[in-house]
Amino acid sequence: MASAPADENRRWWKEAVVYQIYPRSFNDSNGDGVGDIPGIIEKADYLADLGVDCVWLNPVYESPNADNGYDISDYRAIMDEFGSMSDWKALRDALHERDIRLIMDLVVNHSSDEHAWFVNSRSSKDAEKRDYYWWREGRDPEGTDLDPDDYDTPDGVEEVPPNNWESFFGGPAWAYDDQTGEWYLHLFDRKQPDLNWRNEDVRNDVFEMMEWWLDRGIDGFRMDVINLISKPDGLPDADPANDIATIDRAVNGPRVHEYLGEMRDRVLDEDLLTVGEMVGDEMPLETARRYVTPGPEGDGLSMIFHFEHMLLDEGDEVWETVEWELPELKAVFDRWQAGLAEEGWNSLYLNNHDQPRMVSRFGDDDQYHRESAKLLATLLHTLRGTPYIYQGEELGMTNYPFESLDEVRDVATLNPIQNAIREGEIDSFEDVKDAVRAKSRDNARTPMQWNDADHAGFTDGDPWIPVNPNKDHINVEDVRDDPDSVWHYYRELIDLRSERDVVVYGDYEPLTPDHESLWVYTRTLETDDGRDTLLVVLNFASDETAFDPPADLAGRAADVLVSNYDTDVDAVEVDILRPWEARVYDLG
Ligand code: GLC
Ligand code: CA
Repeated sequence: MASAPADENRRWWKEAVVYQIYPRSFNDSNGDGVGDIPGIIEKADYLADLGVDCVWLNPVYESPNADNGYDISDYRAIMDEFGSMSDWKALRDALHERDIRLIMDLVVNHSSDEHAWFVNSRSSKDAEKRDYYWWREGRDPEGTDLDPDDYDTPDGVEEVPPNNWESFFGGPAWAYDDQTGEWYLHLFDRKQPDLNWRNEDVRNDVFEMMEWWLDRGIDGFRMDVINLISKPDGLPDADPANDIATIDRAVNGPRVHEYLGEMRDRVLDEDLLTVGEMVGDEMPLETARRYVTPGPEGDGLSMIFHFEHMLLDEGDEVWETVEWELPELKAVFDRWQAGLAEEGWNSLYLNNHDQPRMVSRFGDDDQYHRESAKLLATLLHTLRGTPYIYQGEELGMTNYPFESLDEVRDVATLNPIQNAIREGEIDSFEDVKDAVRAKSRDNARTPMQWNDADHAGFTDGDPWIPVNPNKDHINVEDVRDDPDSVWHYYRELIDLRSERDVVVYGDYEPLTPDHESLWVYTRTLETDDGRDTLLVVLNFASDETAFDPPADLAGRAADVLVSNYDTDVDAVEVDILRPWEARVYDLG
């Protein structure tokens, strides 16, 4: 059984609660409709009041914004719209003064096509930086399975690219470049060319840039799609049967651990929070452990973001969603909780800037909005791992009721819809409206709801993306006034984590893996004063559910430490749980 760690084995990033800020949508200080860094500084006290320990800032670097900052044209400069380097320093200091750490997004699988490296790279075949990216000659379509009509080439160029890979944002992963008559690889938008990590100079430049930021006092990195950096030798065709033909080839490539090992040795240390975003389907746990085991056996990342729970409601077709089932959701978490129990550490999230809002997806954002938002929070803050709160989650912010394509801003939503309309697969937005409402990344990107004013207090100007009309009743001002709100509940959970080691370090044991609506588990830790045990009981349903405690716990005296309903329970007993009821029992 896990015991409370000695001081030298504690890690701040295991004990922390991380708050994710998507700057474009957080707070606009100058009325141009776009959130910015001075806007975040204005809210530093808000973050301190909530009690979070660390901020993960989505990209704020110079960028032409083809993908909202994930297309970086200068890694050492701040995007004008967001402010200046001195604003950034003021933000760092404002957070540090409040004991809030700061981690930055590291986007180095690709750069912007407007980065000086790529501008040079595309200028001629012998350019100094030519090899910083993946340039290849095209092929004669004869003898390939590819249709030249599917590719955008100038008249007279009857070529197809070197392989059949598809972009994660839809369409081909290769773009033809007129200037030198070759193709370059882009696993995301065509304005996001992939960097060639085989080239040592690329790696050196990336590592130097990371050091440059560390010298400026940051506390770690969130590493964007970091398991895509190593491409397989010969760039072989992908299996076209996959949803996105690429995944089977580009994910966890042959040299990824070598590159990360180099990064670990040259740049990182264990006191930094490093979290690697790992795209793809189910990841073997050995691979996961390798990423998060300290060096030299492992790559030494603190933790990773996997996507397995984000895939449960995905249908076979791009526009199809299916109902997720609780036993499947539990199975994913149980696998990861067990898989990283001895070695490694988990991240805990149910939404972020790329995913719909968790209360709309996993809860009941209508009748049991408050109860289900609190239940999901209880889950995230009482599993073993580091919880990530995505801005607005602490208010119970919901998905957006999209009515037309005019309200959509995201390339990953727009590109596939525009392609599908062009290719006649769908007639109009109406055909995909439900899917957009359920899944579009823009659900997460509507402005933070500070109050019930016109633009929810986010801006005095015209917001770059529409504000959710439910700001009238879901907003910071109201939740702070209401002691029973989702927001105050988050504060309680954050406090509980800092008060009780068992929440951070305790063993996780699932008790109801097959139950359709109950998720029940214990967390247990050996401490100097004996054994500390919590029992967590969650009713994932808009109906009442009978709870029949396991025999070895039944009848034990217990306080309910946290709950989203009034309870006067003083023992673990047979009971009827109310809709979305969550209880954390303290068994002492
Ligand atoms: C990651 C980011 C996402 C971005 C993509 C390409 O998945 O979270 O927002 O579009 O990488 O950089
Ligand atoms: Ca602004």
